[in-house]
Amino acid sequence: MVTVMAPATSANLGPGFDFLGLALELYNFVHFTPANEWTVTAEGYGAEQLVGRKDLLVCQAIERVYAESGHPFRGGKVHLENRIPEVGGLGSSASAIVGGLVAANSYLGEPFSKEQLLVLATEIEGHPDNVAPAIFGGLVGVLPESATGRHTVLEIPFPEELHVVLGIPQLRVATKEARQLLPAQVTMEEAIFNLAHTGVLVGACFSNRTELLRLAMRDKLHQDRRSVLIPGFHSVLAEAYRQGAMGVALSGSGPTIIAFCPSERQQAVGEGMVAAFAAHNLKAQWLSVAVNREGYRVL
Ligand code: HSE
Repeated sequence: MVTVMAPATSANLGPGFDFLGLALELYNFVHFTPANEWTVTAEGYGAEQLVGRKDLLVCQAIERVYAESGHPFRGGKVHLENRIPEVGGLGSSASAIVGGLVAANSYLGEPFSKEQLLVLATEIEGHPDNVAPAIFGGLVGVLPESATGRHTVLEIPFPEELHVVLGIPQLRVATKEARQLLPAQVTMEEAIFNLAHTGVLVGACFSNRTELLRLAMRDKLHQDRRSVLIPGFHSVLAEAYRQGAMGVALSGSGPTIIAFCPSERQQAVGEGMVAAFAAHNLKAQWLSVAVNREGYRVL
């Protein structure tokens, strides 16, 4: 049997829409053994919807590795331990895909490199910024190259002194629905704004200038447009800043909100976000999580 721990990821981080992603120390576990037919069992978030199904992303990912590497596949025994809240914005689908790909790859003696796994994961998931951090760990920028089909991954140092606090409302937002709110075209002003802010955000991380994050994490492409799905979005951001966060953004396509703050402000920021959601009649929880630095782990 192979067991893989696949981390949660937070994509976009404000202006880095479809480009930046951060891996978090919050995991889904995939236990996999080849067998003559599919058996899927599950515990944790969403378990009741997963048990007994063979059409899951994790199963597709396992089958894909067997097919691409030319190994015959009959089925597998999979047990899922889901510890990543699946409300949205924490890459739970990405972690299922990466968990499945890595489990099969590991079982077969690693026919594929991390770079090749990223290409497969992106084909299944659709968003490289969601899957790359689960493979490489830490903060990454991903540049897909359509001409070669390869992806360039830029590993960006994430400031050591920053802690991650997640504000997780009890509300489901599907990425598909959140993407439908985005226009096919944006203005030159919006494009320039995000290019410049992403540049400053990446540069601030490389030079450890955390005081720039509040300015750098502003966005004009997706957050405001998606905020209609998340009651209290703007007040939650404002409250997190008021409580001492240094940078706050919609995590992935939401509804989770991610805040970066110094260690001593974690509780205040977390409680502030929960209170701001509550003021909009939305129950929420907050979690303080460390940054995952090495990506998935095979146990
Ligand atoms: N970059 C993608 C988006 C991530 O924001 O739609 C999806 O979670």
